[in-house]
Amino acid sequence: MTTTTSVATPKVQIRHVGKVFSGVPAGTPAALQDINLSIKDNEFVTLVGASGCGKSTLLRILAGLEHHSSGEVLCSGRAITAPGADRAMVFQHYSLYPWLTVMENIKFSRLLKVGRENLSSSDVEAASGRADALLNLIGLAKVANAYPNQLSGGMQQRVAIARALMGRPQVLLMDEPFGALDAQTREVMHDLILHIHRIEKTTIVFVTHDVDEAIYLGQRVVLMAPRPGRVERILDVPLPARRSQDMKVGVPFRELRAEILASIRESSGMATDFDLLEKLSQQSEAF
Ligand SMILES: Nc1ncnc2c1ncn2[C@@H]1O[C@H](COP(=O)(O)OP(=O)(O)OP(=O)(O)O)[C@@H](O)[C@H]1O
Ligand SMILES: [Mg+2]
Repeated sequence: MTTTTSVATPKVQIRHVGKVFSGVPAGTPAALQDINLSIKDNEFVTLVGASGCGKSTLLRILAGLEHHSSGEVLCSGRAITAPGADRAMVFQHYSLYPWLTVMENIKFSRLLKVGRENLSSSDVEAASGRADALLNLIGLAKVANAYPNQLSGGMQQRVAIARALMGRPQVLLMDEPFGALDAQTREVMHDLILHIHRIEKTTIVFVTHDVDEAIYLGQRVVLMAPRPGRVERILDVPLPARRSQDMKVGVPFRELRAEILASIRESSGMATDFDLLEKLSQQSEAF
């Protein structure tokens, strides 16, 4: 008898997940409530929503850095209870070690293992080969021996991505990784991360509050809402798998953006604020 379990099992399964932080005042809405989401192997999913809707909390639960209060979270069918080599995280702030070179930063986790485990010279060689390949992939081979403070923000974030990929994680978790970069650098980073996704075949869960970024990168956009933190809608992105910057001015992109923005305004209470502003401006015109 043949089994298709491994093919059918989603890479990430989030079932009825809730999170209530301890120590918060009674009556505080849950940080997460009844979150359900299945992510396929090699899928690129973006999470977008107003501030405080629980994007980072959900990502930290997937990373094993935070415990959920209810429900279950699985990676390749196994419960997530702690950080693991199958998942890697990239944060908004580059978090590189300033005293290590670019190459040393990328190899850092392997260097630790060499210290702890009895690795053979071929293991170490393989790690060096992997680090070289990643340096080429992120286009920074020329600065392998530079220190982080000699690099621009975009370059530092590329190094952080390469470092996260070093251990060949199955799932790459990214929390607003390009949030601190200027608009032009972000566009370059978008095409780079899509290229990395094609080459490395990782599953990517990417948090952002930038709707354009969520649509351009995601195969699906998970739209979250706050108080309590919840999944409002999950939208398929109607764009070809190979993205190009000119798609951002096309009708499908603009329609989806308008739909998501309206939903975020509504769920964050901003719509009410806008209504109020409109009424106030009408009143002041009347005087
Ligand atoms: N350690 C904590 N203790 C108590 N409450 C917390 C803690 N961390 C987050 N929260 C609360 O949980 C909710 C979700 O926070 P979270 O940081 O996940 O939101 P977010 O969607 O990532 O927001 P942002 O877009 O501002 O980064 C918020 O109401 C926040 O105040
Ligand atoms: Mg956050």
